[in-house]
Amino acid sequence: MTWKGLLSEYREFLPVNENTPLLTLHEGNTPLIHLASLSEELGINLHVKFDGANPTGSFKDRGMVMAVAKAKEEGSKTVVCASTGNTSAAAAAYAARAGLRCIVVIPNGKIAMGKLAQAVMYGAEIIAIDGNFDEALKMVRKLSETTPLTLVNSVNPYRIEGQKTAAFEVCDALGVAPDVLAIPVGNAGNITAYWKGFNEYNDKKNTGLPRMHGFEAEGAAAIVQNKVIEQPETVATAIRIGNPASWNFAVEAAENSNGKIDYVTDEEILEAYHLIAKREGVFAEPASAASVAGVIKDLKAGKIKKGETVVAVLTGNGLKDPNVAIESNNFIPTVLPNDEEEVFQYIQGVVAS
Ligand code: F0G
Repeated sequence: MTWKGLLSEYREFLPVNENTPLLTLHEGNTPLIHLASLSEELGINLHVKFDGANPTGSFKDRGMVMAVAKAKEEGSKTVVCASTGNTSAAAAAYAARAGLRCIVVIPNGKIAMGKLAQAVMYGAEIIAIDGNFDEALKMVRKLSETTPLTLVNSVNPYRIEGQKTAAFEVCDALGVAPDVLAIPVGNAGNITAYWKGFNEYNDKKNTGLPRMHGFEAEGAAAIVQNKVIEQPETVATAIRIGNPASWNFAVEAAENSNGKIDYVTDEEILEAYHLIAKREGVFAEPASAASVAGVIKDLKAGKIKKGETVVAVLTGNGLKDPNVAIESNNFIPTVLPNDEEEVFQYIQGVVAS
C-alpha cells in the first residue's frame, strides 16, 4: 500500500482535525538500516535511522509538514524561519506545496550548498545575515510577535509533534525501543521530539524507553558546558548553534532517560562521516555523523555496553553538503587522455593491486 505521509499515517497521535489540510510530500517511513560490518567490529547491534531519505533530504520534513499544515489551517499566508539550512529547505518546500509564502533568515556563507540550492529552487525569500543561527532565530522570534506570519522553527510546538513520529517508526521497525538512541543536538528540538515520541508510544504500546544520548559539536557544546557559546564553530554547520532553544527539554530527556548530553570533536565527526560511507554505503551529512561518532566515543568510555541495541539518528542526506564531501577526501580526479589503451592499462593496474 502507498505510504500516505505522516499526517494520514499517524493521525491519531497528531493534532490533525477535520480542518487540517492533509499536506504531504510522502515524508516519513524512512529506512532503519542495520550496519552489519560496524556492529560486528564494535560488538553492538547498530542501526541508523536514515532520515536523509525524506523528500527534502532531512528529518525537518517531519515537523514541517505538521507546522505548515497548521499554519494553513489557521489562515496564515506566510511562514518564516531562521535556519542553518535544512529547516529552510523543508519550510520552503512545504510552503510551496501549501501555497504559502516562505521567508528564511540564514547565516551568510555558513549553510551547505545543497540546502541553499533547495531554498532557492522552492522559491523562498532568502535573507542572509552577517550573524549566526542564534542571532537569526532571535530576530525571527521577535518579528513573529508583531507581524502576521507564522514562525516554523522548532519553538513552534507543531514541529515537535511531527518530528516525534521518527521514534514511532524506530519502535515499529525493531518491535521495541532500542537500548540507546544516539542523536545529534543543535537547537535541541529533535532530541525533545524523539523523547516525546518514545514516551507516547510506550504509553500506548508498551514499547519501552531508550537511554537518550545527545551529541553536540565540541565548538558548539553549550549544553555540555552549561553556558551560551557566543561564537559557535564546527565543520557540521547544521549544528553550529550556541544557544539551543530547547535546551531545558534536552536536559530533561537526558536525565529522565538515564542518558546524557555529550560532545564530539570535528575530527571524530569527520571520521564517523567517512566510516559509514566507505564501510556501509551510507552517506549522511557531517552533523548527522555526530551520532555515530558519539556511539564510538561512548563504547570506549563504557557508556554503551557490548551487545546493546543502538539506533543512531542520521538526520540529513550527505548530498546536502557536497563541499565537505569533496574537500575532506582531498579529492583530485585521475585525469587520463581519451585513449582506450591508457585507460585500460590504468584500470588493470588498479584491479591487480
Ligand atoms: N542534524 C541536522 C542535519 C540538522 O539540520 C539539525 C538542525 C540537527 C541535526 C540538529 O537538530 O536542532 O533539532 O537539535 N538543523 C536546524 C536547521 C537548526 O536550521 O536546519 P536540532
